[in-house]
Amino acid sequence: MITFKLADQHILNQEADLYVGFCPQNAIPENIIRDFTSLYAPLNDLIKKRNFAGAAGSQLVISAARNNKAVTLMLVGLGSEKKSQADRLENARRAMGLVVRTVEHTKSTHAAVLLPDHHWFAINEFELTKELVATAMMAGYHFDQFITDAAAKLTQNCEITLCAPAILHNQISVGVEFGQRIGHAVNQARQWCDLPADILTPTILAEHAARIAKVHDLKATIFDEATVKKMGMGGLAGVSAGSAQECRFVAIEYKSGHQDAPTLVLTGKGVTFDSGGISIKPANRMDEMKDDMAGAAAVISTMEAIAHLKPRVNVIGITPIAENMPSGTAIKPGDIITFYNGMTAEVKNTDAEGRLILADALSYAVKHYKPDAIINVATLTGSCAAALGPFFAGMMSNHDDLVEKLTKASKRSGDRLWRLPFHDDYKKAVRSSVADICNIGNETYKAGAITAGFFLQNFVGDTPWVHLDIAGTSFNVPDMSYYRPGATGFGVRLFIDFLMHFEE
Ligand code: BES
Ligand code: ZN
Ligand code: MN
Repeated sequence: MITFKLADQHILNQEADLYVGFCPQNAIPENIIRDFTSLYAPLNDLIKKRNFAGAAGSQLVISAARNNKAVTLMLVGLGSEKKSQADRLENARRAMGLVVRTVEHTKSTHAAVLLPDHHWFAINEFELTKELVATAMMAGYHFDQFITDAAAKLTQNCEITLCAPAILHNQISVGVEFGQRIGHAVNQARQWCDLPADILTPTILAEHAARIAKVHDLKATIFDEATVKKMGMGGLAGVSAGSAQECRFVAIEYKSGHQDAPTLVLTGKGVTFDSGGISIKPANRMDEMKDDMAGAAAVISTMEAIAHLKPRVNVIGITPIAENMPSGTAIKPGDIITFYNGMTAEVKNTDAEGRLILADALSYAVKHYKPDAIINVATLTGSCAAALGPFFAGMMSNHDDLVEKLTKASKRSGDRLWRLPFHDDYKKAVRSSVADICNIGNETYKAGAITAGFFLQNFVGDTPWVHLDIAGTSFNVPDMSYYRPGATGFGVRLFIDFLMHFEE
């Protein structure tokens, strides 16, 4: 676990075993040079020898001594000030990720970190602290609860003392509080994703949602499988039909308490394991499909965070949760199902299951809440992952203002989005000759991510709506120091930022 403390800007006032200074490229701060040289005399010589200039992703880690104890000095690069604001901030996050990796390698228990100057990022001290604290917590996350060899576990407990001028401490302490809430929410979503599907079943995930709602006094509506069937949610019931696990439908409501506050719905795909069903997936990497509830995890975890952070908007988190398995009772290619809004779909491929459960969730959201906007988030298509890779999620929408708000939240939060074309020309891809629509796109249209989006659009009416396809970004993202192999919690940072800034 990583914990945080505040202190003045003189890092040598701290009795730490790791001292850290952030360095803009070609502008290593004077006070860091001075302080570090007092603990390691040939500092300037080493900087030259190792060619350390503060480039993005670079670091200089030095073993030194203080009061006869082994200490580590770390210079970590922030990259060029010519980069965009979003990229400078992302470089700072990754630098913070490297700091936590060094904490782990050196088994440090007390790190004194001189906070970088917030002016360099053109944001205030609160925002910068919030981002760095959330990132440090994310970097400290390891899914190692099933590793019984204590020496093989990577988690390192460390208290990080953030050093900055006392005059900024008020702002910074709020930043620490917000950053910890965000970091916890992201890591909780990652934990649910990383847990194997025999442990994180639909009923268990729904219980987590119910517990969170109860603790924070949020209204929760939870339907079991019998109720789901009775209500006519044929998509959710159909996907769950082959599984020994019961499905769940969960809606959690956060009320802002402000009059005339807009009502926003977040819906997340919650497939706790996606075998593909009768249209079964190949064995290779099927294990990764335990992560197919990453959208639901992001939504539920966001609900907990906003119960603390209290944005001025009403938020409903809706998650249809099921396991997609083949069996004698499973839905079959060729079956026709009827959704909550009365529409029908031909199921040509049981592996296109996410859109089936989301169709019921979107229909329910529109009917019961008449929301001002709906954001949908799902590990929906391999096609989106192939198009954009692991660094950007696909964004599809019928509403430019909503896209702009999410784009801003994306740039501030680090959960990056890229808008895909969403023209009506693609609409005919999901036509069926035997039902209202078909659950896979016609091959002539290709563009599997977009045609999946057009399937979903049938269920939102004219509600302003954004669909986020996080198939590429939710799992195994390489080269970002604050992640590790496994889940990323993509969406949590984005949603929290989006909701906190919605009324701007
Ligand atoms: N959960 C998968 C999408 C996915 C693939 C997520 C890879 C993460 C990594 C989804 O349910 C799926 O199987 N989609 C199919 C749709 C196809 C059958 C139209 C796909 O993308 O292949
Ligand atoms: Zn799936
Ligand atoms: Mn599937």
